[in-house]
Amino acid sequence: MNSHFPIYIIGAGGIVNDAHLPAYHLAGFNVQGIVDINPEKAKATADRFSIPNCYPSLEALLAAAPPNAIFDLAVPGSQIIPVLTLLPEKAAVLIQKPMGENFQQAGEILQLVKKKEQLAAVNFQLRYAPYILTAKDLLASGLLGEIYDIEINVNVYTPWQLWDFLFTSPRVEILYHSIHYIDLVRNLLGNPVSVYAKTTRHPSMPQLASVRSNIIMDYGEMVAANILANHCHNYGTPKQQSYIKIEGSKGAVKISFGALIDYPRGSADSFEYVLLEEGKEPEWREIKVEGSWFPHAFIGSMSQLMLAAEGSIAEPDNSAADCIHTMACVEAAYLSSEQGGVNIRNLGQISEK
Ligand SMILES: NC(=O)c1ccc[n+]([C@@H]2O[C@H](COP(=O)([O-])OP(=O)(O)OC[C@H]3O[C@@H](n4cnc5c(N)ncnc54)[C@H](O)[C@@H]3O)[C@@H](O)[C@H]2O)c1
Repeated sequence: MNSHFPIYIIGAGGIVNDAHLPAYHLAGFNVQGIVDINPEKAKATADRFSIPNCYPSLEALLAAAPPNAIFDLAVPGSQIIPVLTLLPEKAAVLIQKPMGENFQQAGEILQLVKKKEQLAAVNFQLRYAPYILTAKDLLASGLLGEIYDIEINVNVYTPWQLWDFLFTSPRVEILYHSIHYIDLVRNLLGNPVSVYAKTTRHPSMPQLASVRSNIIMDYGEMVAANILANHCHNYGTPKQQSYIKIEGSKGAVKISFGALIDYPRGSADSFEYVLLEEGKEPEWREIKVEGSWFPHAFIGSMSQLMLAAEGSIAEPDNSAADCIHTMACVEAAYLSSEQGGVNIRNLGQISEK
């Protein structure tokens, strides 16, 4: 892969400093410029990562960027359309998730990038976390058989106050967090038939929209996919946990991922798997996987765009056209939560006797 495409970053916030730039440094990518509506943040980030050009405005960055530039957008969801509108036709652009603030905006983003013939990918990078790539290798080799069950279980304390823009966002947990798990399930199983969900606020975070979610992605009679995310477990670290479990006809994988534990300190990941053998007790084994979600997975989402930009693949695996289906699942989850479950009072009188 030609990893020398010049990268121009728009937005110099937390995720760029904590993940994009550390990942690009590891991968040897060529970051050429950065801009932020807050020039001090752009300057501080440019200094920290030795980025040669720090621009006073998006217009100045666009004037300097060469035709083979890759634009790396890391702004809040509400800013994606205004920024994309200004980017040149046929540009290659990696859009930080979410793909807009709702499904309607995702549709507008897709139309916009099609109209401008931009090569657009969305930064749903959990798909490329090293432990997910390891699980995909086991799946591709057939060792796990057919997938029967995916469970993602997160029980952590997330300091949402770190992200100012969330306080005015009508949607928080699914749109900004469980979206990664929805995208991962889709990436492994394809699109679900439907989505059921209940997303709930928390009394200790009354300024925020819902911060806990239970999401069921419906794959029919025989395949289950469940996401359970509680970000309000403020009871110390001993019982904090976050794992992805994949069960197949011939084996299973359990990935405990540490990024969210004791946030932002994090803890170690682990990758365990078991292969069923006729007549033998199942025996779990561990694989030491190099790298983690943050920052290593960010190499994968950018690499997809570079591979498509150089023509090695027809389109990125994380193309806007693919990722809009993740946004559809997110929208369905919020709608399901609003609609509510089956009201037990509608089932008829329950006899007291
Ligand atoms: N795993 C992930 O993929 C992941 C993790 C965290 C955040 N994010 C996403 O990244 C985006 C940014 O999150 P963050 O944590 O860095 O937030 P942040 O608030 O730390 O940073 C956002 C930055 O964008 C700048 N900005 C806003 N509008 C702009 C514009 N029009 N032009 C240029 N700069 C602009 C702000 O000044 C700020 O510096 C969010 O959409 C969030 O969902 C993704």
